[in-house]
Amino acid sequence: MRSEIKGSSILVTGGAGFIGSHLVDRLLDMQAKEVVIIDNLFLGSEENLESAICRGAVLYKDDAEFATSLEYIFERHDIDIVFNCATKALNYSFMNPANSFETNTKVAINLLELQRKNSFKTLCHFSTSEVYGTAVYEPMDEAHPKNPTTLYAAGKAAADLAVETYVRMYDLDAFIVRPFNNYGPRQNYKGPMAGVIPITAYRILNGIPLEIHGSGRQSRDFIYVHDTVDAIINVFPLLGAGESVNISTHHQVAIGDLIKLVADKMDYTGEILQKPARNSDVLCHNASNEKLCGMIDYNLTSFEEGLEKTLQWYVNRIVKIGYSCVPR
Ligand SMILES: NC(=O)c1ccc[n+]([C@@H]2O[C@H](COP(=O)([O-])OP(=O)(O)OC[C@H]3O[C@@H](n4cnc5c(N)ncnc54)[C@H](O)[C@@H]3O)[C@@H](O)[C@H]2O)c1
Repeated sequence: MRSEIKGSSILVTGGAGFIGSHLVDRLLDMQAKEVVIIDNLFLGSEENLESAICRGAVLYKDDAEFATSLEYIFERHDIDIVFNCATKALNYSFMNPANSFETNTKVAINLLELQRKNSFKTLCHFSTSEVYGTAVYEPMDEAHPKNPTTLYAAGKAAADLAVETYVRMYDLDAFIVRPFNNYGPRQNYKGPMAGVIPITAYRILNGIPLEIHGSGRQSRDFIYVHDTVDAIINVFPLLGAGESVNISTHHQVAIGDLIKLVADKMDYTGEILQKPARNSDVLCHNASNEKLCGMIDYNLTSFEEGLEKTLQWYVNRIVKIGYSCVPR
């Protein structure tokens, strides 16, 4: 019988990041006994955890790629459940493919080894839609072949295999959630690792021309981050060991349309530059969420509403340089 979130001690790797920090908030809302975070702040920030830390969450600014850093935490906290969110953003794999692969595999292996030695009971491992690569068939369900097109995705796919194999070999209680493209407050907007919605908002707020890479017809399944956290929390008691589940909306948005929509909502009338297509950019990520819908009640935020909340957050957050619009 899997432990309940309420009353459990929980470790979130990468918990200062985008999805991880929202998950931490939710675990606290659900009265977890304690919520512990390990994050090396590669991309995450303490700001994301401001309210969580006030509510008692404990942050270790440390690197989960070192087994000894994790062991140190397990010596101090009697952890029941681990959510493994730690990763280095996909774009990083174009700069440092080897380390991107290593982070995604090493953190998972470190945790699986600790679990094998009974250091904790349940592992919820975060995979990514990127492991599927370009669709062989659509919509892509959990049985879709894994054809990674980046070293980021290769590392995630290898970690998925490791989770599945440890479950088979050692009967561990570990399972895989596989989000598609998340958006919402707290997603990084700075530098080359920013996602498309944050970078577009950032550019508009700072008077920088917008960019569309390739035809703009490449499409993604965008899911509001609170919906992802809801789905994970609801599926947590239900998903069997060794299983995986897509966390998606079954709805596609083309990147070109998305950029124009953000521009429209933020009253941007400046240039939209056409840039060459990115290497390894998959054309379409059309997900099947049939399995998830069969397991839980799934109430999704409309893209319109989620986008408005998100843009409002960026307007409030980003230091503006001579800009004063509010999304409508
Ligand atoms: N955001 C998305 O659209 C999306 C889509 C599919 C899957 N995912 C998966 O969800 C999880 C969370 O993604 P996110 O968007 O919140 O990413 P994020 O980059 O915002 O968060 C990842 C966190 O991991 C931390 N980190 C990196 N290396 C670390 C290390 N060695 N030790 C400790 N911490 C480390 C980073 O500092 C960051 O805070 C990841 O596993 C990611 O692959 C995300």
